[in-house]
Amino acid sequence: MSTDATPLLEAARSARLHAYAPFSKFQVGAALETTEGVVITGCNVENATYGLTVCAERVALFKAISEGHRTFRRIAIVADTESPTPPCGACRQLLWEFGGDLEIILGNLTQETGRYRLKDLFPLPFDARLLLRQ
Ligand code: THU
Repeated sequence: MSTDATPLLEAARSARLHAYAPFSKFQVGAALETTEGVVITGCNVENATYGLTVCAERVALFKAISEGHRTFRRIAIVADTESPTPPCGACRQLLWEFGGDLEIILGNLTQETGRYRLKDLFPLPFDARLLLRQ
């Protein structure tokens, strides 16, 4: 039986309410859970240059890293869409740095819409193993 992701999805929904998305109007919330059970949230922050926009997942990840967390269990990502909103390629790469076993729980405003493992969404990654090899 899969674990109850309701509280994590709720945390992502609350974070989404802080999204700064005046250009796309596409508001996203994320809630990242550490292996100790601490939850760190994020929302997307857009910019008039467009290109400097930062996704909700990355905001949550960078907040967590800057607060000293390094190992993660799950991330919930919420958008107001009927079909699942999966993390973009850049966020997959950044999340990968901290473990492929991360569970990705997708949801919308009312329900869970999908569950994945990062290693399945991001096969054949470029990562530290290639750089640290003797
Ligand atoms: N966005 C996220 O925050 N996370 C995703 O997983 C997909 C896209 C944001 C970036 C931008 O502010 C808006 O959604 C439209 O791309």
